Amino acid sequence: MKEETFFFQWRFLASCFIFFLILPQAFPHYNPPTNPCLAHGPNWFPPLVNPRLLKAYAALQAWKLTITSDPNGFTSNWCGPHVCNYTGVFCASALDNPYVLTVAGIDLNHANIAGYLPVELGLLTDLALFHINSNHFEGQLPKTLNCLNLLHELDVSNNKLSGEFPSVIFSLPSLKFLDIRFNDFYGDVPDQLFDLSLDALFINDNKFRFRLPKNIGNSPVSVLVLANNDLRGSCVPPSFYKMGKTLHEVILSNSQLTGCLNREVGLLNQLTVFDVSFNNLVGPLPETIGDMKSLEQLNIAHNKFSGNIPESICRLPNLENFTYSYNFFSGEPPLNEL
Ligand SMILES: *[C@@H]1O[C@H](CO)[C@@H](O)[C@H](O)[C@H]1NC(C)=O
Ligand SMILES: *[C@@H]1O[C@H](CO)[C@@H](O)[C@H](O)[C@H]1NC(C)=O
Repeated sequence: MKEETFFFQWRFLASCFIFFLILPQAFPHYNPPTNPCLAHGPNWFPPLVNPRLLKAYAALQAWKLTITSDPNGFTSNWCGPHVCNYTGVFCASALDNPYVLTVAGIDLNHANIAGYLPVELGLLTDLALFHINSNHFEGQLPKTLNCLNLLHELDVSNNKLSGEFPSVIFSLPSLKFLDIRFNDFYGDVPDQLFDLSLDALFINDNKFRFRLPKNIGNSPVSVLVLANNDLRGSCVPPSFYKMGKTLHEVILSNSQLTGCLNREVGLLNQLTVFDVSFNNLVGPLPETIGDMKSLEQLNIAHNKFSGNIPESICRLPNLENFTYSYNFFSGEPPLNEL
């Protein structure tokens, strides 16, 4: 009985096998599945490129698969192995080998693409620039980005990214420019961020909720924009005034700041833009504001400053725009001096 069943099953399998052998001949116009990048035709296989470009090819194809909308067709030529010809993809010689071409930059700014950032982006280990601002990318920054040892500039601003602060950036040893503004990131911002040796930091217009940390003055950034987050009633920490040698622009508007501006604000003498508008700052403006010799734009409007506006402001040599409305100042310097 058992043997018979076995024999029967074997015969069944054998006939299936034969059926599939003759199937293609039975349909003479049968076409094998074609590669979606039709220009290369069926049976297309990537010709040899270097292994680093093949890795990039894998990453970019995985990324393309996540894209649900690309109204301007930026990725429509993302087909085939010549990744260096893809729109928005830039190749350069490898830093460690001038004879090897690698993907060094991605620039898909203002492409209006919807999709997400797949883990395969971690394969782009030669990337120095990653700019995808003004798109509709959702989800989180993948943790695999920690493989991008050469990444210098990360600009994912103006997308729909979310989740907690993308701590993967702490694993990027070359990072100098971090721009994650205008997304839906939320929660705490690790103090560690201000210990990184960044040149510019934009985290404004998210849903971060954190206090300005004591170590903020460790940050060597020249541009610091934290505006439109919830700084939970922080005062400006004393170390902030130690950023005078490097800081050129600070925007802390609409962030629930409280407390006073210290006399040390005068040490910020490289600052051209100082915007602390729409907060709850109190007390007088320190006379030392007159030492901020580089100031061009000064916006302290919509706070609770009081007392007299110091005359030293009128002697600032480069001041173009001083906005101080909606405070409780009792004395204002003559308008014609501003
Ligand atoms: C892509 O670039 C390669 C190398 O420069 C060139 O040979 C190839 O024709 C290009 N392919 C397309 C589709 O433009
Ligand atoms: C000065 O700055 C304020 C606040 O940013 C702005 O609303 C205003 O338009 C500026 N004025 C000029 C003349 O640029």
